[in-house]
Amino acid sequence: MKAVVLVGGEGTRLRPVTLTTPKPLLPIANQAFLERQLRWLARHGVDEVVLSLGYRADAFEKHFPDGRFDDVRLHYKVEDEPLGTAGAIKFAADGIDERFVVWNGDVLTALDLTAMVAFHDARRAEATISLYEVEDPSAFGVVPTRDDGRVIAFVEKPPADRAPTKWINAGTYILEPGFLDRIPARLNVSVERETFPRMLESDGALFGYKSDTYWLDIGTPQKYLDAQADVLAGHVGLPPTAEAKEHAPGVWVQGHPVFDGAAVEGPALLGDGSVLAPGSIVAQSVIGPAVHVGRDCRIERSVLLADARLGDGVVVTDAVVGPSASVGAGAVLSDLTLIGADAHVAAGARLSGARVASNPMGESTSSGGI
Ligand code: GDD
Ligand code: MG
Repeated sequence: MKAVVLVGGEGTRLRPVTLTTPKPLLPIANQAFLERQLRWLARHGVDEVVLSLGYRADAFEKHFPDGRFDDVRLHYKVEDEPLGTAGAIKFAADGIDERFVVWNGDVLTALDLTAMVAFHDARRAEATISLYEVEDPSAFGVVPTRDDGRVIAFVEKPPADRAPTKWINAGTYILEPGFLDRIPARLNVSVERETFPRMLESDGALFGYKSDTYWLDIGTPQKYLDAQADVLAGHVGLPPTAEAKEHAPGVWVQGHPVFDGAAVEGPALLGDGSVLAPGSIVAQSVIGPAVHVGRDCRIERSVLLADARLGDGVVVTDAVVGPSASVGAGAVLSDLTLIGADAHVAAGARLSGARVASNPMGESTSSGGI
């Protein structure tokens, strides 16, 4: 089976971390998010994937240099300008002449795709949308259905009090090739705002497949952190990361981290070659490979990406420290502070909800700190 994966977005809400690593390649529990989801697609019989790219297409080609991941063959379709979700599907699916899968590339899910395909085939649907129930549907496409699954309406991001149901578009579609004829060949067409609603006007066979399997859109700093915690807790399958071993209940290690004299409270993951100096406390956090944490630091509900360096006495809570970034002694980072790759935080700084990027001169610029 073939799949089109939409990964052209800029990941603006996760800047500055996404300035260097596009969102789909950001690690979740020390493994690139996209690799996790390619494994998921492969488990359900997908062996060929077209990556629909725009922003930082180069980073994807570099990440998968031989055009494959495990047994999945990868093709790249790069847009000069964003084509919108439908435009991107049409462009990327050019030449596909059998039923195929589309997946929004920022959704962490363990959806039973095999069962969804069977549902689609049994109803002779032209398109089937995966649905997931959420408390507040206002940030999503809202999709009421009849008892047999037929979609009644598709309302993208309605005001909270106007949503007809809590079942939302969970961002995986099964499409027949004929669906592509519904997408006009022009720039920027939205599948959510144009193609699906128009398909309903013409009585097209559009179905919704409800599932309560784990689902999360990782697009905001809080959700990015939640995703790590959920993966570590085993909500998306165990072990959390292929090579990880459980050192103590809920404490996972990869390769050979050094943490004598440090306290680690699960769920947590320590990457290969990471060092936690004595007196440090790590709780509900992910420590990337080759990260160095100084003495008496406290890391809680946070992610330190590869090669990050923390001086002594640093406190990090609910924050992300980017790859190769450095944090001076005694600094306190909290409340969804995001530190970009290679950025430097001065000793003693107090940053709450801040975004710190490294500028081309190698200095750091920060915004939103206190
Ligand atoms: N190639 C390409 N070109 N990809 C795009 C483009 C484009 O022009 N625009 C968006 N994408 C990709 C994004 O990278 C992302 O993986 C996916 O399409 C969805 O775009 P988002 O920008 O993340 O949309 P959203 O999260 O606000 O809403 C969508 O996802 C929700 C579920 O998470 C919609 O499909 C909603 O209906 C849905 O509920
Ligand atoms: Mg999204």
